[in-house]
Amino acid sequence: MFNKKLSDGVYNVGVLNPNMRVFDVIMETKNGTSYNSYLVRGSEKTALIECVHRDYYGYLKENINSICGCDSMDGVKIDYLIMNHNEPDHSGGISRLLEDYPEIQVIATQPGANFLKNIVNRADMNVRVVKDGDMLELGGKTLEFISAPFLHWPDSMFTYLREDRVLFSCDFLGAHFCEPGMLDSDVLYADAYEEAVRVYYDAIFSPFKKHVRYGLEKIAPLDILTCAPSHGPMLTKGIELDKVIALYTQWSAEQVRDTKSIPIFYCSAYGNTGALAESIAEGIKSVVPSADVPLFNIIEHDIGELGGLMNGSDAFLVGSPTINRDAVPPVYILLAHLDAVNIAGRPVGLFGSFGWSGEAVANIKGRLDSVRAKVFDEMLKINFIPTGADLERAKEFGAEFARSL
Ligand code: FEO
Repeated sequence: MFNKKLSDGVYNVGVLNPNMRVFDVIMETKNGTSYNSYLVRGSEKTALIECVHRDYYGYLKENINSICGCDSMDGVKIDYLIMNHNEPDHSGGISRLLEDYPEIQVIATQPGANFLKNIVNRADMNVRVVKDGDMLELGGKTLEFISAPFLHWPDSMFTYLREDRVLFSCDFLGAHFCEPGMLDSDVLYADAYEEAVRVYYDAIFSPFKKHVRYGLEKIAPLDILTCAPSHGPMLTKGIELDKVIALYTQWSAEQVRDTKSIPIFYCSAYGNTGALAESIAEGIKSVVPSADVPLFNIIEHDIGELGGLMNGSDAFLVGSPTINRDAVPPVYILLAHLDAVNIAGRPVGLFGSFGWSGEAVANIKGRLDSVRAKVFDEMLKINFIPTGADLERAKEFGAEFARSL
């Protein structure tokens, strides 16, 4: 059981999940996670802010009961469930909550209400839609709803508890991180926590930088003592809150570069695609001498770092040999890291050496077309070992690609 009092009438009744190692299939969670949920008790009404993952609802119920000093839910009255965001790690337990609280009113944005309809699948669910600036009075506890779309779903909002100066930010400013004491001042492994904040931001918020900046602007005027996210430690003013806000500000800032970044990613079974990559880089530099054109043999680097470079580039190239009528798996693993939200229109060049047939570049193009990248018309394919003339052709290919930018 875990609970933490934030202030009079305000409690974290969420659930720790220290054993989780992969979140949502794609995200490594070396330090586990927590499903934070908060109980706010006014003199008139009580609100629960966020529910939890379906499988952890029983623990949430225990935590609520322990706060309320009851043995069963019968004696605890909760009037509202406020859903700042409705991904199933927050909304999965709602069906079970509604069995215990059939009268509860669920509060969400309009997109959130739309999602909940098909997540909860109960026609009798009482949902109230709120807009930016709407208030909910609990009796000495005033909740203000703040629109924060795409942080990180269209449904997202924040809830601010005015009297206690607590911001319930859902995923925003959170971390997949789990320690017994879930307040920032209690964190024992500070380095691991800071890394978790970064990994979490990269995976969840980096595709939505413009919206992150908007979210930060929305909360800037608020006098926040405690930020209560839905994953990881609660952040307090003067400890981690200011630091994490500063990091989000830095990470979401618009990039201003003096030089173009045009990385080349490739795999090379016998050095032939690698030789093409070097000549292509020469060609690019001959047209744009100031360009940064680093070469990466994919299997020699951390794939997550390469993904970040690819997504942050002005343009990039991908080279693969053809093996068994396809590009090689590390190339597809890299392309699985494409930021599909923001990659549309990004210029991409494709090349590769092949032996029998040479399908690799066309197959890679299929993946890039699916995310609407702008694939350079010419795709360079060289049979077996490139000759001097082939390398000249590769250089010219690089030059033409650079001229097209
Ligand atoms: Fe924690 Fe986007 O769900």
